[in-house]
Amino acid sequence: MRVLGIETSCDETAVALVETNPWSTDILAQVVSTQIALHRPFGGVVPEMATREHLRNLPLLVPQVMREVNLGLDAIDAIAATEGPGLASSLLIGHSYARALAVALSKPMVGVNHLEGHLYSSFLANRRAVEFPFVGLIASGGHTLLVHALGWDRYVKLGSTVDDAAGEAFDKVAKLIGLPYPGGPEIEKMAAKGNAEAFGLPRSFPERDNLNFSFSGLKTAVRFFFEKSPMMQADKEWIYDLCASFQKAVVDVLVRKAVAAVGQARVERLAVSGGVLCNKMLREELEFACYEAGIDLIMPEPAYCTDNAGMIAGTAAEKLAAGVEPRVGDDINPNLDLFSPEPGRDLARGLSVAAKLKNRHAKDVPQESSVVPPGEIEVW
Ligand code: KG4
Ligand code: ZN
Repeated sequence: MRVLGIETSCDETAVALVETNPWSTDILAQVVSTQIALHRPFGGVVPEMATREHLRNLPLLVPQVMREVNLGLDAIDAIAATEGPGLASSLLIGHSYARALAVALSKPMVGVNHLEGHLYSSFLANRRAVEFPFVGLIASGGHTLLVHALGWDRYVKLGSTVDDAAGEAFDKVAKLIGLPYPGGPEIEKMAAKGNAEAFGLPRSFPERDNLNFSFSGLKTAVRFFFEKSPMMQADKEWIYDLCASFQKAVVDVLVRKAVAAVGQARVERLAVSGGVLCNKMLREELEFACYEAGIDLIMPEPAYCTDNAGMIAGTAAEKLAAGVEPRVGDDINPNLDLFSPEPGRDLARGLSVAAKLKNRHAKDVPQESSVVPPGEIEVW
């Protein structure tokens, strides 16, 4: 089975084609068009600009992927697109494009939860079959999550951030000290030249059994040091030390909590993903801690840590191959939750949307209006 995947939840337009085989799912081709340079002058993602870029990119990237594998669109068995969470306008472009393609090709369309994509990207990137149970750590610009994955669609939240996501903390601290967006790679470069023990920065929730994260205290501590020392801001060595100490504090917390989560869930495997997992120090410390604790660490190469379409197509393909009822893919959901996926919810949501439309029309639309009568609106 071959699945084409489209990911446009934020500022990366990504398309991939995957193929299932009896042992794992292979990524046959994948392209990612990043918009970092476009958004950099604004210090963050500008949704309107991201939307226009996705619209421009998708009609180029889909044929590019098919050309790379030398296959026609008729070779695709299903089309998957990110349904949420993410920026509404960005999600809409990829999702609508996928739906249109699915209708044109008479193929099924599958909506994929972006976080679920991250959960499985480490298995896919390492060409490993997904094995339950495992603990997933997702650390990105929008999320910091520890998940106990018991089976397909059976996820238990072990911990999450109570304020900023880890990547967001990197981005905000970078902005504070005048580094460009995205902050993670910039801080990492500075930190490589600094002393991680130079500043005593706080670590959140040090208790072993508390698996939540908080990065706002750490961010405030960095702000305190930075703003209270205007004379030092021109001293490169001092900035290097501040970045190194900040990076170490984030890494310490992520590693400690991930290892504790594996212990608490009594599993053997830890699968990690999200843009922050590109960080070399985090990767090394995770490898070391997991080796010490006898944990099977499944970590993708950096290209599969950041947003990509291989994880979206791969998640859809693995679930279809496992016989899991796919999400219908009827609409985007910018706040899509990972932890309440009861069967039939798409139908329930579709019906409730239909009911709301019906009420709204009954109340607001004058009789002579040319709007399609509510009874004739097809929700999917
Ligand atoms: O997963 P991702 O590409 O997009 C989201 O879904 O958010 O993650 C982007 C985040 C940004 O906050 C970025 O600063 C962070 O990942 N990031 C890093 C590194 N590379 C990217 N953080 C720390 N160190 C890095 N090398
Ligand atoms: Zn992501």
